[in-house]
Amino acid sequence: MIRAKAAFRVPLADGGDVRLHPISPEDAPGLQAGLQRLSPLSRYRRFGRPLSRFSAEELRYLTAVDQRRHVAWGARDLTGAGEKGIGVARFVHLEDRPGTAEIALTVVDAHQRRGLGALFLALLWHLGRAQGLRRFSGQVQVDNAPMLAILAQLDARIEASSADCIDVSARLPESLDGFPDSALGRRAREAALRLSL
Ligand SMILES: CC(C)(COP(=O)(O)OP(=O)(O)OC[C@H]1O[C@@H](n2cnc3c(N)ncnc32)[C@H](O)[C@@H]1OP(=O)(O)O)[C@@H](O)C(=O)NCCC(=O)NCCS
Repeated sequence: MIRAKAAFRVPLADGGDVRLHPISPEDAPGLQAGLQRLSPLSRYRRFGRPLSRFSAEELRYLTAVDQRRHVAWGARDLTGAGEKGIGVARFVHLEDRPGTAEIALTVVDAHQRRGLGALFLALLWHLGRAQGLRRFSGQVQVDNAPMLAILAQLDARIEASSADCIDVSARLPESLDGFPDSALGRRAREAALRLSL
């Protein structure tokens, strides 16, 4: 069972191992270093602009979170030498939409397609459901094929779109049985099951 403040180790679908941990201000140097391991395209997809370094204010926003209205967890790879950060997942409650939080996922390029994105979705689902959240929303660039592929498999609905950006939201399943019957839905459900053991 996930305890809101405790790190734990969990296997990835590809046989690797990661440690999931709640983000705190101590993670600021790790996030700055992690940004350097993120490709320019992934940075652009996540932050919507070219970004070479986080400012002190951005780092504070990303790490000094209350783990309630703003929930953020990181993943460290346990299979290589040392424990490098390989991704971050977060959600932030939307003040004007009770029951809905905006999510953001980032996985360092060298570790993409290992199942960490699905594991993060399962983690955010557990943490969001525990708070009574009903929907996750997000803004995705129109050419962000990986994220759009993920959203399509989560039965996300389009709420608004412009020339470069799409606003989407997806319902949080009420139980493990409610995950969509897609390849990713099944993988996220399996990950959610692993996390609840
Ligand atoms: C989106 C992102 C978080 C996915 O993370 P990931 O760890 O690679 O995801 P997974 O390994 O769990 O893949 C889940 C599924 O997503 C889809 N997917 C992931 N990357 C894809 C790609 N490059 N092209 C098409 N589909 C893709 C696939 O269906 C994949 O399942 P499969 O590998 O069995 O085919 C990662 O690509 C990322 O960090 N991108 C940059 C930042 C970003 O775009 N964030 C989202 C906006 S906030």
